[in-house]
Amino acid sequence: MAQQRMNVQAPIDRLFAKRWSTRAFDPEKQVTEEQLAACLEAARWAPSCFGEEPWRFVVVDRVEHETEWQLLLSCLAPKNQLWAKHAPLLIVAAAEPLFSHNSESNRWAEYDTGQAMICMSLQAEELGLVSHQMGGFHAEALKSALGMPEQLHVMSVTALGHQADAESAPEEFQAMEQAPRTRRPLEESVHAACWGSTWSAPAASGWDARYQETPVEKLPWFHAGLDADIATALDGIESAGTAFKGKQALDLGCGPGTQAVALAKLGLSVVATEISHHALESAIDLAVSEEVNITFQVDDVLKSKINGSFDVVVDRGLFHCFSDEADQMAYLSTVRRLLNPGGTLLLKCFHKDEGCEMGPPGRYDETDIRRLFADGFELVESDKSHFDSDVMERSPKALFCHLKKTI
Ligand SMILES: Cc1cc2nc3c(=O)[nH]c(=O)nc-3n(C[C@H](O)[C@H](O)[C@H](O)COP(=O)(O)O)c2cc1C
Ligand SMILES: C[S@@+](CC[C@H](N)C(=O)[O-])C[C@H]1O[C@@H](n2cnc3c(N)ncnc32)[C@H](O)[C@@H]1O
Repeated sequence: MAQQRMNVQAPIDRLFAKRWSTRAFDPEKQVTEEQLAACLEAARWAPSCFGEEPWRFVVVDRVEHETEWQLLLSCLAPKNQLWAKHAPLLIVAAAEPLFSHNSESNRWAEYDTGQAMICMSLQAEELGLVSHQMGGFHAEALKSALGMPEQLHVMSVTALGHQADAESAPEEFQAMEQAPRTRRPLEESVHAACWGSTWSAPAASGWDARYQETPVEKLPWFHAGLDADIATALDGIESAGTAFKGKQALDLGCGPGTQAVALAKLGLSVVATEISHHALESAIDLAVSEEVNITFQVDDVLKSKINGSFDVVVDRGLFHCFSDEADQMAYLSTVRRLLNPGGTLLLKCFHKDEGCEMGPPGRYDETDIRRLFADGFELVESDKSHFDSDVMERSPKALFCHLKKTI
């Protein structure tokens, strides 16, 4: 069971996305000789400084070399032993610290051994195996237990085997097994041209990655129908005398297209925009299968290039993607430009009371919306609500706002 990744910033190959360090190994399933050979061969083809290939491995099989396996296990940190004891293979990786051509110190030996190990881990992933590298072990005890040469630098012990259910991991690791995987933002590790100057991943890349990796029906915001509050607000406007049939509607950040399709079915003439072309492909498929006519367009709401004048703008879950004030202002200027005077903005975002760690960075209450939309909008109504979701067990708390463009 590969976990879901959060804060993905660009689409990457399945291998990099899916590899992870599990603590739930299946004790019954062995790694075949062929699989092990392929993993070692992948490591062999790693690059190394001077082509030195400084890596050295000791492979210990729980069934074939039970005594050595137990000795090696006992050299691991006690916490690592708790889960590594189920792995059928333990692989020690060590670096030879001297260059063979001049016996001088090879200061890249450890770096290159790490490169070999990631090749091995990715090959394991490709074969449907799982791996977990460990730095928590007693190096001197380990060298002595396995009779390894004194000069070697033992870098890691890797558990290799087959994935078991998360519930089979030792109790204290179960929450870790199921927690979403996260990484700090690329921007904190990458500098452009010189140290200290900002590098940014294109905004669309992260969204494309989410849509590429996960079927739309499994994304947390997926909801096949129109959210009840959006439907009720539209009903209210219609019964107040504004007939919608043929009126121009814009669905901003339409994602899988479920809301756009529902709006089209109500008789609105719909344009739906999205930053992610992967999302738009799903939205187009949905519109075709539901036999509705919608104009779809890839567009970044913060630098929008679309033209038109709309009677209704629907935003379900886009505005809350922006916590930065400059982005919020760019969003507002797009909506102001595209909405007709007197036109309706139906805005649904995460509520400030929603405390979950995951999810969008922007969270709002009525006061925030009044302040942010003061220039050119009137807040007709706002309600505490929730996001209808076909995926989430608990519906996130939302703020639903009905705004009217005043000028
Ligand atoms: C050199 C190295 C040493 C590590 N040592 C340990 C360890 O002793 N125990 C452990 O549970 N995980 C260990 N890990 C696993 C990391 O915690 C893990 O790779 C990291 O949290 C990222 O998670 P991911 O591999 O699932 O992406 C180690 C990983 C590396 C590369
Ligand atoms: C929480 S999802 C909601 C999707 C859709 N409205 C729904 O209700 O299913 C937010 C959507 O906004 C899109 N998005 C994010 N930033 C955007 C931007 N700058 N311009 C346009 N769309 C954007 C994302 O790709 C994603 O599909």
